[in-house]
Amino acid sequence: MNIVEIINKKLTNKPLTEEEISFTVNGFVSEDSISDEEMTEWLKVVFEFGMNDDETFWYTKALVDSGDSLPLEDRVDKHSTGGIGDKVTLLLLPISMAMGMNMLKMSGRSLGFTGGTIDKFESFDNFNASLSIEEASKQVEKIGAAITGQTPNLTPADGKIYALRDVTGTVNSIPLIAASIMSKKIATGAKYILIDLKVGSGAFIKNMDDAMILGDTMKNIATKYGREVFILMTSMDRPLGQYIGNGAEVKEVIKILTGKSKDEDIYEVILKIATELAMKSKGLTEEETKVLFHEVIDSGQALEAFKELIAAQGGNPEQIHDLSYFTPYYRTVIKTNQAGYVKFNDVSDFGKALLEFGAGRIFKTDKIDHSAGIKIEKTFGEYVERYDTLFTLFSSTEPTEDQLENIKSIFNITKEKIDKENIIIGEIKW
Ligand code: URA
Repeated sequence: MNIVEIINKKLTNKPLTEEEISFTVNGFVSEDSISDEEMTEWLKVVFEFGMNDDETFWYTKALVDSGDSLPLEDRVDKHSTGGIGDKVTLLLLPISMAMGMNMLKMSGRSLGFTGGTIDKFESFDNFNASLSIEEASKQVEKIGAAITGQTPNLTPADGKIYALRDVTGTVNSIPLIAASIMSKKIATGAKYILIDLKVGSGAFIKNMDDAMILGDTMKNIATKYGREVFILMTSMDRPLGQYIGNGAEVKEVIKILTGKSKDEDIYEVILKIATELAMKSKGLTEEETKVLFHEVIDSGQALEAFKELIAAQGGNPEQIHDLSYFTPYYRTVIKTNQAGYVKFNDVSDFGKALLEFGAGRIFKTDKIDHSAGIKIEKTFGEYVERYDTLFTLFSSTEPTEDQLENIKSIFNITKEKIDKENIIIGEIKW
C-alpha cells in the first residue's frame, strides 16, 4: 500500500477501504511516513469527493484508535459546534449535577473568533482546567461533574490533522467535521451525547440542509459505536443571550442561576438540553424532568453545584457573589441614531471585534483578557427607538471610534418588521 495509490484511487471517486484509511492516518500521525504535503493532497481529495458512511466511520475509528479512550459509562456529554455567546456548557454542568446526572466535559480553548469554554471557566482565579483523565473521572464520581481541556493523548490524530486542515482550507468538509467531533466524544466514553449544532451567520454551518447532513453523519458514527445521540439545531443568527466574552458570559450564567435573568433563548436551549439528557439517562418523563429542571434552579441547588464545581477545580467560588469582579475598567455605552428593528449582519463579527480587546486568541500562545466583552441591549427582532442603547463594550483599554463603529456596524437596523425566529430550529431525535 502507498499513499500515492490511495490518493489516486480516491481521485477516481472510488471508496477507500478500512485498511487504506488507517494506513493514511497512522502513516501521518504515528509513523511520520506520510508528509504534510501528501496528507494535504489526501485531505483535498476527501474534501472534493466526500466519504461514504463506511469510510467516515473507519476514519473516525482511526482517529479514536490513535490515542487513549475512556471505557463506555452511563454518563452524559454535550458538544456545541461553536457559536457566539454560547455559555450552555457553563450552565449545563451545574444543572446536570443538581439533577443527578454525571458529566465529564472535555472542552477547548478559544482560537480565532470562536470562544472556548475553558477560557470562560478560567475567569475564576486559579481555576484548574488541566485535569488528567483519571482526576476528571474521580471528580465525576465524587461530585457528578468535571471539566478539563483536551488531553494530548486523547485522539492525537484529530489534533494533528485538524491543525493541517486549518491551514489548507479543508476544515469545511462534512465527513471530516463529523469524524473530528465524534472521535472526541467517543473517546471520552459517555453513553448519551447531545450535539448542539449551531446554524446561521455566526456558525460554520450556514443552512439547515447542511445541518441535517452533518447531524445524520454524526449520528451514524455514534450509533455504530453503540452511543445514543440527540442532535439539536439552534440558531446562530443572533448571539445566545445578552453577553459575549469570557467573564461577561460567566456573569450572565450567575444571573441565571441566581434568578436575576430569565433570558428566553438561554432558558429554552438549556431546558431542552437538560431535559432530553435527563429523560434518556435517568428514564424520567418529560414532565418530571421539566419539574426537576425548574426546581434545581429556583431552589438554588444549581448555583450551589456551580460553586462546588469551581471549588473542586481550585477556583474561588466566592467570586460568584461579586459580579463587579468580572467587569473591567472601561464600559462604553453605544446608542443608536436610528429607530427600527434589529437584525445582525454577521454574528461572528462580534467575536472578531472582541479579539482586538483580548477576549480571544489569534495564536495559541496568546494571553486572554477575561474581562473583555459585550452586552447586547437589543437583539434580533427587537424594536429600538432613536438614542436607545444598542450595546455596552467592556474593555481594559480605551476603545477607538473605529473599533466602536466596527461593532455598531454588525447591527442592521431596518424599518421593516422582522419576526424573531425560534432559537431551536430543528432536531434529530435519539
Ligand atoms: N469542531 C471540531 O472539533 N472539528 C471540526 O472539524 C470542526 C469543528
